[in-house]
Amino acid sequence: MKQEKINKLLHAMSLDEKIGQLIQLSGEFFSTADISIGPSQKLGISQKMVNLCGSALNVVGAKNVHKIQDEQMKRQPHHIPMLFMSDVIYGFKTIYPIPLGLGCAWNPELVKKAFNSAADEASAAGNQVAFAPMVDVVHDARWGRVLESPGEDPYLNSVYAKSMVEGLQQDLKSKKGQAACVKHFAAYGAIESGREYNSVDMSLSNLFQNYLPPYKAGVNAHAKMIMTSLTTLNGVPSTADKWLLDDLLRKSWNFKGIVISDYASIYELIKHGFAADTTDAALKAINAGVDIDMKSPCYATGLKQLLTDGKLDENKVDQAVLRILKLKNELGLFEDPYYGASEAREKGNILTTDKRLLARKLASQSIVMLKNDHQALPLKKNTKIALIGPYANNRNLIGMWAIHGNPQDTVTILDGIKENTNYVKVAKGTDLCRNKKLLHNLGFLSNESIDKMVSDDKTESKNNQEAIRIASKADTIVLTLGEETYEAGEAGAKTNLELASNQIELLDKLSKLGKKIILILINGRPLVLTNIKDKVDAIIEAWFPGTEGGHAIADILFGKTNPSGRLTMSFPYSSAQEPLYYNHLSTGRPENNSQHVGRFVSKYIDSPAAALYPFGYGLSYGNVLYKNLELSTSHFKCNQVEKISIDVINESDMDREETIQLYIHQYVAKIVQPVKRLVQFQKIFIPAHKRIHVEFQLKPQELAYYDNQGKMCLEGGKYSVYLGMNGGQLLKKDFILLI
Ligand code: BGC
Repeated sequence: MKQEKINKLLHAMSLDEKIGQLIQLSGEFFSTADISIGPSQKLGISQKMVNLCGSALNVVGAKNVHKIQDEQMKRQPHHIPMLFMSDVIYGFKTIYPIPLGLGCAWNPELVKKAFNSAADEASAAGNQVAFAPMVDVVHDARWGRVLESPGEDPYLNSVYAKSMVEGLQQDLKSKKGQAACVKHFAAYGAIESGREYNSVDMSLSNLFQNYLPPYKAGVNAHAKMIMTSLTTLNGVPSTADKWLLDDLLRKSWNFKGIVISDYASIYELIKHGFAADTTDAALKAINAGVDIDMKSPCYATGLKQLLTDGKLDENKVDQAVLRILKLKNELGLFEDPYYGASEAREKGNILTTDKRLLARKLASQSIVMLKNDHQALPLKKNTKIALIGPYANNRNLIGMWAIHGNPQDTVTILDGIKENTNYVKVAKGTDLCRNKKLLHNLGFLSNESIDKMVSDDKTESKNNQEAIRIASKADTIVLTLGEETYEAGEAGAKTNLELASNQIELLDKLSKLGKKIILILINGRPLVLTNIKDKVDAIIEAWFPGTEGGHAIADILFGKTNPSGRLTMSFPYSSAQEPLYYNHLSTGRPENNSQHVGRFVSKYIDSPAAALYPFGYGLSYGNVLYKNLELSTSHFKCNQVEKISIDVINESDMDREETIQLYIHQYVAKIVQPVKRLVQFQKIFIPAHKRIHVEFQLKPQELAYYDNQGKMCLEGGKYSVYLGMNGGQLLKKDFILLI
């Protein structure tokens, strides 16, 4: 449809019809399943406004979408098609690893393919918008939603934001893509004390330097939508922050797309104490720049009155409606309201061999080997394995936000191992969690299911004994421990990052047998492994690895794939260290480089201050050497590019992939700078016994930082460049930037 036709349509629409376009409702309003994750509340929206509703939340399935679209279009005077949006966060039916795992793959190209392939599955099932990517920078492992983010680094998250948006939107024209919705704008990942829905308060320099870049990268990649955060930022709820949504996002970043509130967040302006009632909330949100009200009564019940009373300029509503109609038009919905969705395409498209292979590859790249003493891994083909633990033969490997995925499609760890060895005995050993109160607090589980999940003491003791029995007869124990699905993800904030006590007790019993123990972790956040690491020979952090998890884990265990994952979030020694992140500012009394000795330095008296496993860390099989760090010049001029090179030597018999990380540090600045920050990386393949010469080109702009006015500053002076692997193990050289 031409733009003039859209304009004409807008003029022909009644006020109610316009307002309808700005409302998003979930399945139960259209007599279908409500699979949203979020609080439910009677909204008090009239049937008339439901009939005029412009978009649906988490309604999927080609048949379903056809039916609802037909009915809604019939009811609407101008037969405007609805947009179907949903949480396709790391896969639709084929589930990839959780985004924290995707981050650890340091592989934006592969992630782009995964998001493209997720959009292909979802669009076939009638879904045109993905509420993804979630690129909040995350510093606090207590927050359950760290699962959804690529990690703690603004640069890495920015690279991922771009690739995820591009992957989703690449095939929009051929109706095999999805419009991307970057979230949660802004800085949701910095909530105080990691407690869900808590406040965010920070300096502008921190905001611009560390939190905004990923959203901006998504906008620059032409994301069609952006979602506000449920939280406040410096005292103003993001959903009503005119500075954030209008001045910054639309005016300064030139964002032309749609802004959608998060689930009920317009209504929640009242709870924040920012709006008096639903009408006031509607006024504040639309004036700030929110186009679509997700799952709240405010726009449906408030906007008309505000317009009639002359409190709201109709042009505001018109602009919002135009943006929505424009997206519908770009997607071709006026010509094909189903966006090519069909049951046949849906069936033929999901969980195909190619998609599963991609999921397997990504899962194996997202796995981080944290420990491998005395080459405990890889396992030999004839190893007698006792596979123990609540995740040994468990299909729940997809994590909380894979709401469209089905655990039944998942390859278990047992399935994967069986394909590699003839001797594997399996025992659950213990429950995932025996704390009924905690399970109850997860908010998803009925008392009956909790009763089923927590065995009685007698059964628990039998489970323990069976595990010990099979372990005694094996060469190697592969122990699978971790978090329950709903312990991580939205509203899964917790203060204790250790494994459940019953899991640790089982490990203690097994470690007395003196057998080799390989620990596999299935979880959604950094855990505290301080008291566990010495009891096992190897640790494989597998995250929630997705549909192909079992295969990917077995590929790593048996050395079919050399582990290449590197952490993108720091693992603490203790939960009380959180928030913990590598790119913190230099302190006046650094622990290892202070003029003071002893007590008066920046440290804890009862725990190391650094990470147990830092950002960038991860092991592979065989030795690698980084040598000959060279800079093209020690005095770097502003109009130049600094060439940085290094030799990477694979000393082993196995091919490997190395993620070479380039960090910088500025010694003297007007705003104190981080001890180091990532500015580039390259993931390269190095065949066995080969040396590769790797070059980076550093531009002066990459040395610039944001000040407290949100302005970029580039200052001359001394800088260091650090290059290498594994966070801690870095080579360093200094240079001077001449301005
Ligand atoms: C989450 C969003 C999600 C939305 C819709 C909210 O609770 O914060 O990330 O997209 O629900 O399901």
